[in-house]
Amino acid sequence: MAKIIGGVGTSHVPSIGVALDKGMADTPDWKPFFDGYIPGKEWMKQAKPDIAVVIFNDHGNSFFLDRVPTFAVGVAESYKPVDEGWGPRSIPEFAGASDLSWHFVDKLVEQHFDPLVCREIEVDHGLQVPMELFFGRPDKWPVKVVPIWVNTIQYPIPTPLRCWEMGKVLRDAIESFPGDGRVVIMGTGGLSHQLQGSRAGFINREADEAWLDGIANDYEKYRNMSREDYVEQFGSEGAELIMWLVMRAAMDPKVDLKHKHYYAPASLTGAGMVVLENQT
Ligand code: DHB
Ligand code: FE
Repeated sequence: MAKIIGGVGTSHVPSIGVALDKGMADTPDWKPFFDGYIPGKEWMKQAKPDIAVVIFNDHGNSFFLDRVPTFAVGVAESYKPVDEGWGPRSIPEFAGASDLSWHFVDKLVEQHFDPLVCREIEVDHGLQVPMELFFGRPDKWPVKVVPIWVNTIQYPIPTPLRCWEMGKVLRDAIESFPGDGRVVIMGTGGLSHQLQGSRAGFINREADEAWLDGIANDYEKYRNMSREDYVEQFGSEGAELIMWLVMRAAMDPKVDLKHKHYYAPASLTGAGMVVLENQT
């Protein structure tokens, strides 16, 4: 049986990776943002996970609008970082925890989810940036990954409740996995932002700050909200936050909120993170 050692939620804004690539992490614009992640990085160092399950969305890099799976799971032995147009990034490939991925896919199908199963695929900033925020820039990543893609790009996106249900299956898969491993679950995306249309530039600081506490202690409220509620409160791209629910559902009903951080704006986004631990 593998063990869930914690859940984190984090933004995955692509310019975070660009700021690291260009050595801008200590500039006045970025330093307060990166400083807020220091306790999260420290927690990760002490928690020593072997596997990171990363829930994110692709942004037109590995899936384009002609083919958009609602849910997809990577089962590969490794995943290359996609070049998103700024040039190849000097970060290592991500080794896949393919045994756990296959076990999870099997459980999903058993529970009547029908994911796209990806044997070969590249990963974009949705996975790259959270890994950098919590593990820094190592020569080799200290964890293997299970990538889970959720469509938050093209209508119709899945409901928050469906994401929640997927998180329950994820927990069951981890706890019934015949192998060992210390697993951290990373829900990514958000916080509030809208990159298009008449509300482009929209950030809702109040809703973001409520979210960071609420995802720990008032999750039912967010699980029961509609997709339209997410778009209204957090912006059309801020609706990425539904992916944190996959992580939250895999944790116990009662959790300790060990760390949280909020900073806005990072690029056009309210940005932040939480670190959650089960109480037992
Ligand atoms: C931005 C944020 C995102 O989450 C994303 O996927 C792309 C861009 C931004 O604020 O620039
Ligand atoms: Fe995004």
